[in-house]
Amino acid sequence: MPQNNGRVSMRLRRLITLSVVGALLIGTAGVLGLPKILSDQAANLPETIQTIADQVQAKPVTIFDPPKHSIDEADSIWVVVNKHRQISPLKYQPTNLVFPTLPKPKVQNPFGLQLREEAALATEEMAAALSEEGIGTLILNSGFRTYKNQQGLYNRTRDTRGLAVAEKLSARPGHSEHQLGLAADFSVKGQGCVIMVCFGNTEAGRWIAENAHEYGFVLRYPKGYKPITGFQYEPWHFRYVGVELATEMKTNGIKTLEEFWGLDAAPDYLAPAG
Ligand code: DAL
Ligand code: ZN
Repeated sequence: MPQNNGRVSMRLRRLITLSVVGALLIGTAGVLGLPKILSDQAANLPETIQTIADQVQAKPVTIFDPPKHSIDEADSIWVVVNKHRQISPLKYQPTNLVFPTLPKPKVQNPFGLQLREEAALATEEMAAALSEEGIGTLILNSGFRTYKNQQGLYNRTRDTRGLAVAEKLSARPGHSEHQLGLAADFSVKGQGCVIMVCFGNTEAGRWIAENAHEYGFVLRYPKGYKPITGFQYEPWHFRYVGVELATEMKTNGIKTLEEFWGLDAAPDYLAPAG
């Protein structure tokens, strides 16, 4: 859980320290006849102190305490699933799956392209914004996948590319956010790099990474975070967590759900591949 109270008290401590230093400087500058520049700076300190005090007052701090949603329940939009945290029940299937209204991808996904209703609505909103900004047409390449779909995908990757590649690219069944109906693999028409690392360098990839929080999505597998998330950089894979949490993470520069909630890093599964 983020230490928002910690941040507030740090600011307050800074404020108190500045007040004391300010008072001392103003006093000693006068008594000792210090150079004018120093006494001028000392005189400005009350203004600085007031500015910080205003910031402490003005900055809205969201405190997720107690959390609004569970991070353990599969039905919760905040559920955290990773290599240490399997979905419970293992073959969970959401009930409110819908097809977002979007153009079809070039290569039709054999698993269908459904998302949980809230994630589907958010996807449609983001698609509209992307189009209004002139970035392009949003495509959903993969959404909900059943336990069995995920098993097929994982096994195929393992059999064709080897276990090590499968483990860093494809979640084992029961460990994929796609099974929650809350993960979306995006691309944008005509910009290429579909489900490829280079998507992160396209105009669309950059726009989505920068703006997705406004629609409730987080880039779930950021570059350089494999030791925490267990998966390589996936600039196409976005996880719906809702605007409140996505914005809180963005505002505070927290990149992963594991770090946000103070969970263990999950670089590897707890059990070897079966
Ligand atoms: N590619 C991500 C890790 C998944 O299979 O869910
Ligand atoms: Zn994905």
